[in-house]
Parts: sequence; structure tokens; C-alpha cells
Amino acid sequence: MTRPKGRAPAVGPAGRPGTPRAVGVIHVQPDATSGPEGLAPLPWYVPTPRSWPREDLRLDRPTSARVANLALGGKDHLGPDRTLLDLLQAEDQDWITTALRARQDLHRVLRRLAEDGSDQFLDLGCGLTTGAPGSPLAPIHTSILPICPTARIAYVDVDPMVMTHARALLHAPVPGQVRHVRADLTAPEGLLRELRRHSDVDWQRPIVVVLADVVHELSAPQARGLFSALRLALPLGSALVLTHRCTGESDREARVAGLFAQAALPWHPRGCDAVDALLDGWQRQAPAHGGDTAVVRTVVAYGGMK
Ligand SMILES: C[S@@+](CC[C@H](N)C(=O)[O-])C[C@H]1O[C@@H](n2cnc3c(N)ncnc32)[C@H](O)[C@@H]1O
Repeated sequence: MTRPKGRAPAVGPAGRPGTPRAVGVIHVQPDATSGPEGLAPLPWYVPTPRSWPREDLRLDRPTSARVANLALGGKDHLGPDRTLLDLLQAEDQDWITTALRARQDLHRVLRRLAEDGSDQFLDLGCGLTTGAPGSPLAPIHTSILPICPTARIAYVDVDPMVMTHARALLHAPVPGQVRHVRADLTAPEGLLRELRRHSDVDWQRPIVVVLADVVHELSAPQARGLFSALRLALPLGSALVLTHRCTGESDREARVAGLFAQAALPWHPRGCDAVDALLDGWQRQAPAHGGDTAVVRTVVAYGGMK
């Protein structure tokens, strides 16, 4: 995607002003029901349903997916995303390190779960995780499939740009092994309906649900509603893998909240205790499995009722 005319030139991440950055090419085909005009549909081409409003693309404002992609070293971001990350990093010099740490924790936990026999994964709020295998930005199937080649994975997000990326780039060697589902985590009934319809997981066997760096975008009632709906719908022995930035009370936190508010992005900061409190009814595993540091909570919790 080319930079809109008149925008400020690319600036480097905080601490490295002026570093040129590659501008990501994002294939977005809004409102199309066939291939791009004048071209035969490409093999990977998936028409974007007309029901996706154009404004959902948020080209003139940051999106959390693109800001996270930038923080994790990706190339799929625009000027507003770079501006917001620079401001966040200026407030908190560990912002990017924390994002990288959470993602590294996640891959480590998922490899461990796959080694222990988990073979079905739902990545809710998957984001623009299109990095090379082994990198923090790598999509989760790149950590899982080498250990469990028959695993089934579904990538879920509400952002249409994320879904376009996921459909184009997130694939496994076996057709159907990786699915892509657009759904909203704040509407758990619809989410579960879409997952049952479009993912290939077996709902009679344990499923691992990944919520990586997304729950801060949900209010406490929304997060509790989601966790409780998942607990009721998932088979016994299913697991939730949650990574969540832990925050405290300070002027800096208030300024960070102000930055998200200015960007019109949801931001529900929580301390580690508040993160744990969301997992009511789930059996939290001792930290041996996940990583627990002062800045990021990585939790594996077991539940499921079916
Ligand atoms: C900060 S990014 C994290 C991406 C990725 N999971 C990671 O570990 O880097 C949060 C992602 O969650 C998605 N998201 C936020 N709210 C959502 C919702 N209500 N339903 C579905 N996806 C949502 C955003 O679109 C974005 O792609």
C-alpha cells in the first residue's frame, strides 16, 4: 500500500528517528465479489464480502493489528501506526520489548502444548502475524505444525485487513488445515457460530484457545462474557492461552491511556491480579508452563464443560 500523499515521511522507532522503513504491500479488495478488475482471480483470491464497510479498514487512523505488527518487527503498517508506536515507546521505553517478550512466551507455550498432544488451536485476535518461522511475529501454526503435523488451526479476527492478510499468507501445506474466520470477540455467540461453521476443529475433543495481546481491547464484562461462553462451549480439557500486558497506577499509565483514546482504540489496562480475576472458573496452571513477569502475564488455564 502506498503512503497517502502529504503525510510525513517515515520515521524510525523511538530512539532511531529518521530510519527509513519498508512500506508493506497490503492486498485489500473491498467490495469485490470477483477477481481484481481486468484480471483473472488469483489462486489465493478470496472475495471480500460486500457487507464489510470500507471504513473498517481505518487507513487514516492506527489499528491495533498494524501497531502490533510494527512493534514485532513487521512491515505491514502505515504512518498513523508508526506515530502511535513512537508515542507509546516514548512514554514507556519497554513497550516494544514487552510486546516481543509476550509473543516469544506465546510460541514457547504453544510448542509445549503441541508436544503434550494438543492438536486443535483457535487464535482469537490473530493480528497481522505474518513473520518468518522462528520470529516473534510468526503465525502460530509455524510453531505447532513442526511438532504436530496433523494439527488444525483457525485464525480469527474482526479487522478486514487482518483477514485479507491471513487468507493470502497464513497457510499450511495441507489444504484446510488452517482456516480463517472473521468474527467479533465481543459477541461470543456469533463467534462460536462462525467457528463451528468455518473452522475444521472437532468440538468433541480438547481445543486450545489463544488470546494473545488482545484482551486489553475488551472491557471486563466483555472479557468475562467471552471466557464464560468459551468455558461452556469447549470440551473438557480445553485450554486458554492468554498473554496480557500488566500495568500499574501511574501518571505514565494515564498518558498511555490518553494516547489510545486519541487514536480511538480500545484500551483496558489491567494489573496482573485483574488479569487473573478474569479467569474465574478456569483452572490456572502453575507458571511452569507459561511465563510470568512483572510486565506481561502469560497464562495457561484449563476449562471446558462439554
Ligand atoms: C494487538 S493485536 C495482537 C495480534 C496478535 N494476537 C499478537 O499476538 O501480536 C490485537 C488483535 O486483536 C484484534 N481484535 C481486537 N478486538 C477484537 C474483537 N472484538 N474481535 C476480534 N478481534 C479483535 C485486532 O483486530 C488485532 O488484530
